[in-house]
Amino acid sequence: MTNRVRKAVFPVAGLGTRLLPATKALAKEMLPVIDKPLIQYAVDEAVAAGIDHLVFVTGQTKKAIEDHFDRSAELEAMLEAQGKTDLLARIRAVLPPRVTCMYIRQPAPLGLGHAVLCAKPAIGDEPFAILLPDDLIDCDGPGCTEQMVRCFEDSGHSLVAVQSVARAETGRYGIVRLKSPDGRGGPIGEIVEKPSPDRAPSTLGVVGRYVMSPGIFEALENTAPGSGGEIQLTDAIAAFLGEETIGAFAFEGTRYDCGSREGLLAANVALGLKDPELRSVLQRLRDSS
Ligand code: G1P
Repeated sequence: MTNRVRKAVFPVAGLGTRLLPATKALAKEMLPVIDKPLIQYAVDEAVAAGIDHLVFVTGQTKKAIEDHFDRSAELEAMLEAQGKTDLLARIRAVLPPRVTCMYIRQPAPLGLGHAVLCAKPAIGDEPFAILLPDDLIDCDGPGCTEQMVRCFEDSGHSLVAVQSVARAETGRYGIVRLKSPDGRGGPIGEIVEKPSPDRAPSTLGVVGRYVMSPGIFEALENTAPGSGGEIQLTDAIAAFLGEETIGAFAFEGTRYDCGSREGLLAANVALGLKDPELRSVLQRLRDSS
């Protein structure tokens, strides 16, 4: 098996109920952070990591995602005729020509693990990344996926991104116990989905980035519904720990949970502060408050 990571899975079938009513008719992945939809940040991160096969596992109400990554000949012709070369360049940059997209429908909302399993025919027998677009990860250096792909290509070990979370919030995350108790990352000893604070084996939370060897599919096929009655990726990873070393990866970067109001607002403000034009708007608002 090659260690080269060429493919990424984007599970985008979720309903985004935490952001209702904004997500009543709109895919949550299409909500903007500044002027790009959330899904574009995850796709850009994967493409920057050298990935060129994107597999979206979609559901109802997600057609806008397909339209976004498709070429729009009519819009391009109009911008060209109007001489709007900047805008033309921006929409053409949505996806480099070397990248191909596939869309697979998840027939029912049976969980994240089930969504990843739906991508099996498109992934085959090679390692792949999984990106949960709700988690926007802002990095000053290489993106989170690039950091993980480099580590995977060196070590050959599957990886799960982690960061410290508040003990009171362990019930919102997969939680990892490291084999060595001192490090921020390293081989995982145990992983559990959304344990209550009193049962959590640590406060190291799983963030929505994974690089997996294809053996995870067999583990997923044998995974029964778990937390929330859904087939959990975390449970399949727990079973897979018996067969392969899986590393917890402490990435360099800041993660925003854009599936929540707080995270979506924080991402807009943080990225706005990095934009020379928008920074002055935020400064004016701060000064007048
Ligand atoms: C999923 C995973 C969970 C992980 C989280 C990160 O949960 O199941 O292990 O910690 O993403 O965002 P979800 O937020 O989809 O419920």
